[in-house]
Amino acid sequence: MLKNISRLLILSLFFVFFLLSQASNYSKAFATGFKLSNEAKDSTKAGESLYIKHCLQCHQKDGSGVPNMFPPIMKSDWANGDKIKLINVLLKGLNGDIEVSGDQYSQVMPKQDYLTNTEIAQILTYIRRNFGNDADAVYPEEVATVRGKK
Ligand code: HEC
Repeated sequence: MLKNISRLLILSLFFVFFLLSQASNYSKAFATGFKLSNEAKDSTKAGESLYIKHCLQCHQKDGSGVPNMFPPIMKSDWANGDKIKLINVLLKGLNGDIEVSGDQYSQVMPKQDYLTNTEIAQILTYIRRNFGNDADAVYPEEVATVRGKK
């Protein structure tokens, strides 16, 4: 009888240890997940303040642009479309006749190539995730590849 009880005790001790080790795994996973989502938020925040500093004066706070002067980023095919073309708008600037959301523009956008690859990735991710746009993120490595090609 006593033997049985001590066996039971040892078994339940193992069980408790097992539960504890699982719990610490879960809390680790939870902590990593939390850290990642905070980093993602930081990158959007960085993109927002870079946009305010470098793009807002022309494209406006809400990305709506100025009719016949500065095209809108809001729901624009350029902002939501091909990443290489979009990255090149910042690296090389843009001039000549273009069409944005059904309107023609023939203006000059100065190149923004003084921005780092990370800054460009943050700004472009910000504009692709805001202003009613819905496109995937742009990564610094992608900017580096396009910059390398020149
Ligand atoms: C000095 C004003 C000015 C600044 C600053 C500026 N742009 Fe532009 N941008 C323009 C003009 C003008 C055009 C249209 C050029 C043309 O007509 O060919 C344009 C075109 C664009 C386009 C393609 C068309 C569209 O509206 O989708 C994108 C995308 C864009 N700009 C993003 C940006 C981003 C991001 C920044 C900040 C890093 C920025 N621009 C800074 C003036 C500016």
